[in-house]
Amino acid sequence: MSPRPPQSPVPAVAAERIEEAATLLAAGQLVAFPTETVYGLGGDAQDPAAVARIYAAKGRPSNHPVIVHLGPNGDPQYWVDALPDDAKRLIDAFWPGPLTLILKRAAHIPAAVSGGQDTVGLRAPSHPVAQALLDAFDARRAGHGGVAAPSANRFGHVSPTTAQHVREEFGDSVYVLDGGACDVGIESTILDLSRGFPALLRPGRVTPVDIADVLGVAPRLPDGSDATAPRASGTLKAHYAPRTPLTLAAFEALVPLLEGARNESAHIALVARTSSAGAWADAAGVHFVAAPEDPHIYARELYGLLRALDRADVTRILVEKLPETAEWVAVNDRLGRAAAAFEAGASPP
Ligand code: TXA
Ligand code: MG
Repeated sequence: MSPRPPQSPVPAVAAERIEEAATLLAAGQLVAFPTETVYGLGGDAQDPAAVARIYAAKGRPSNHPVIVHLGPNGDPQYWVDALPDDAKRLIDAFWPGPLTLILKRAAHIPAAVSGGQDTVGLRAPSHPVAQALLDAFDARRAGHGGVAAPSANRFGHVSPTTAQHVREEFGDSVYVLDGGACDVGIESTILDLSRGFPALLRPGRVTPVDIADVLGVAPRLPDGSDATAPRASGTLKAHYAPRTPLTLAAFEALVPLLEGARNESAHIALVARTSSAGAWADAAGVHFVAAPEDPHIYARELYGLLRALDRADVTRILVEKLPETAEWVAVNDRLGRAAAAFEAGASPP
């Protein structure tokens, strides 16, 4: 991975809060917790009733698999049928960190966690609060604790990157550990190693180039045409959407849209990096958001920005499309899905 921009300080969470949360997990209850990517809504991965509670809270179809999170001392071998050499190499290179591996599930792991599929998604987060929680839960499960956790948002919404976002989604009904704002800001890279070749299911902070550097072979990219591809809600075309309609296009293509909507311009937000865009937006009376130049900072701020625009008096969000280069793939992917939710024929997210 390329060098990270400076990480915001992680607020300490009291040991008693971690213990309390681990006790809730052990009792089959749910806990929202920070990871370096986004906040997760966790439950005991080996308790089908806890996993069912996650689906119910999110309003998510129960045939969608969830990721199992392991602590710093977690044993991936326990969860899988076999750990291929490629998985071992990637684990050495990127764990703990924002890479989820899809592997053949061990027979003793309940199918509920993978939506009935014969695989399991594993990831070891690097956030210290996530690690402390996973470790405390692991201790209650004799070293075999895993926490199933999708992003802590209702199905189809953008993922939460602060504890406050989680409260906006679930109110007081969910116990939340507050570990500050997430550093990466978009969900983990998902790589499927269960099909005999590495296939990228969701782009993220760990890029295909990072993966190719370790494996010596580039992962297959999602092209939507592979009928054998497993179900993954992150791969639905319309997903990760704000409530306010969002259009993604090159700046030159956005200008006519803005001109056509002059009478409502006060309610339009323009998110762009093009240097002339700010002056242009000011002249047009449009709410301008100067988008970050750095792809990592853009990713970190993206979901918070979409939530802020949802709260603001904005009726339409216009976003300047980003370069088609490797470093922007993950951000373009999330923006593309958000825009797809509002394209003709898309069902609401
Ligand atoms: O960064 C992340 O991955 C965050 C944090 C909380 O760790 N989690 C997250 O979970 O984004 P979720 O459920 O919102 O997205 C997980 C994606 C889904 O698209 C799911 O379908 C896919 O991972 N997934 C999980 N297990 C899978 C499996 N066995 N096979 C295929 N896809 C799987
Ligand atoms: Mg999600």
